Amino acid sequence: MAKKYIESNLTNLVRARPIIIITTLHPDGIVNAGTFGAYTNVSGNEIGIAIGKYSHTYRNIKRTGELVINVVSKKYAYAAEICGRDIPPSKSELELAGLHPEKAKNVSVPLIKEFVANIECKFSKELEINYHSFVIVRCLSGYIEQEFIANDGGLDVVKAEAIFNIGYPEPLYAVLSNPFLVEQ
Ligand SMILES: Cc1cc2nc3c(=O)[nH]c(=O)nc-3n(C[C@H](O)[C@H](O)[C@H](O)COP(=O)(O)O)c2cc1C
Repeated sequence: MAKKYIESNLTNLVRARPIIIITTLHPDGIVNAGTFGAYTNVSGNEIGIAIGKYSHTYRNIKRTGELVINVVSKKYAYAAEICGRDIPPSKSELELAGLHPEKAKNVSVPLIKEFVANIECKFSKELEINYHSFVIVRCLSGYIEQEFIANDGGLDVVKAEAIFNIGYPEPLYAVLSNPFLVEQ
């Protein structure tokens, strides 16, 4: 194996995380849905997401302080692309994608009914970096499809066929397979 030395697009070397679709509310109550892949868990109940400052998602979060993180499975992969487009706020991406909002418990933003897991969140803090802001959100409560619960209670991303974008901005996705335990 021979490695190539590179100095640009370095974050692409660690880019794959299951895609999330964030739902938020526009001022008139229409549900907005945006696709995000640049995020990480920063504690047991906090997630940090790099969100473009000109996106509807960012503006809605800043205005209402609320959002829902929804985890997409392979069956609904097309929705990640629809929610990745710049759709005017008068139209909900959910409607365009044939998805349904469901009432949440602790926030006024609805979750996406068809998706395998949902986390109700509130804005905590942010760090502005050029065109993006690294937005840290506090997770309040969540839902998970019973058949996809892993041994530790979290989401079994293999079984659930959670999708990873592996060539952004290309619409190229993959699911994980063949999990293995490392012998010690
Ligand atoms: C697979 C995929 C991953 C994306 N990841 C991000 C991301 O991590 N951060 C971001 O700001 N935009 C990301 N985008 C672009 C946003 O989805 C896009 O700007 C969208 O229009 C935002 O929707 P909104 O304006 O309704 O919030 C991604 C798009 C796709 C298709």
